[in-house]
Amino acid sequence: MLMRSALCTSLLIAASAAVQQPASLKQSYQGDFYVGAAMNTAEITGQDQSSDALLLRQFNSISPENALKWEVVNPKPGQYDFSLGDQYVAFGVKHHLWIVGHNLVWHNQVPAWVFRDNNGKLLPRDALLKRMKDHIFREVGRYRGKIQSWDVVNEALNEDGTLRQSLWYKIIGPDYIAKAFEYAHEADPKAQLTYNDYNLASPAKLAGVVRLVKQLRAEGVPIDCVGMQTHDHMDSPTAEETDTAIRAIAATGVKVAISEMDIDVLPSPVQGNTADVSIRAAANPKLNPWPNGLPAAMQQQLAARYAALFRVFYKDRADISRVTLWGVTNAQSWKNNWPVPGRTNYPLLFDRQGKPTPSWYAVVKVPGEAEK
Ligand code: XIL
Repeated sequence: MLMRSALCTSLLIAASAAVQQPASLKQSYQGDFYVGAAMNTAEITGQDQSSDALLLRQFNSISPENALKWEVVNPKPGQYDFSLGDQYVAFGVKHHLWIVGHNLVWHNQVPAWVFRDNNGKLLPRDALLKRMKDHIFREVGRYRGKIQSWDVVNEALNEDGTLRQSLWYKIIGPDYIAKAFEYAHEADPKAQLTYNDYNLASPAKLAGVVRLVKQLRAEGVPIDCVGMQTHDHMDSPTAEETDTAIRAIAATGVKVAISEMDIDVLPSPVQGNTADVSIRAAANPKLNPWPNGLPAAMQQQLAARYAALFRVFYKDRADISRVTLWGVTNAQSWKNNWPVPGRTNYPLLFDRQGKPTPSWYAVVKVPGEAEK
């Protein structure tokens, strides 16, 4: 009898060890950082129930792919539409997710009228600052205490690390960045405030962001975090370059968010690691080599690449607040249509049916490997 119950116990232990493999991204990185996904319109409105269910099983943070951008919430002067934004935030509140707001001040997906008066002339500095402040107060104020983290300024840097000559910069001057953070802080003093950009692992742009953050902090500007978009390719940037960038940014005293991660496996028609949404390249079958599925060998390489980057994130977890994937499944990724329209891309951790890819298996194993 005793023998039998001892056998039962050991079988039970063996069985529970077998199921101890983490079942989700959020469980794997519990206590390390949030793992997030960007939500599209169908997910926000509940039309895509299976993606919503997958998201809730796997992730504990959300970002809005487009729902809170200026052109969506305030398309015309005096006309506001927060219907999608409200549904997005309600979803996050209902499911106790870490909710990200994306974004407040950017040179893309902002209507042209924002920078002009009724006669089409560019606004003077004070008038544009007032418009920026009103926008930030209205949007951040609406979700005060609900959106935990805001991307306040998006993509203000050129590739050489200098400030981009956007209309924000040209009309207001370089202090538009500081002003945006000050207004956002006033509108919600408890929100985490982030500067967000792409290609930050490249040395010149990294030096630029480090300079910018140091200067803002020296001036007492309330910046808490830098978002590294991490729209990566197979060979670039390397895991080492990514690690160097995370550590250099964290050394300025702010947190790092991996804010929009995906890995592009397709041939690139453009040079470098840009994520400039205004770029368009012509479709061409050579640029779309795998319309019917990713070859197994490529998928293995992609899994290894994902694992190498997550090993860095795990190692640097004390400095990282979240790792957000820019979409839930490959079917929805913006990378199917940017920079080339109509391609079949494989940049995320779940396939077109919502099944975990080999990359997912590689990523959830990383913390366990480190403990061995
Ligand atoms: C992308 C969205 O995913 C697309 O749906 C949209 O058409 C263009 O913008 N950097 C950013 C994001 O900060 O807002 C962009 O999102 C991707 C690049």
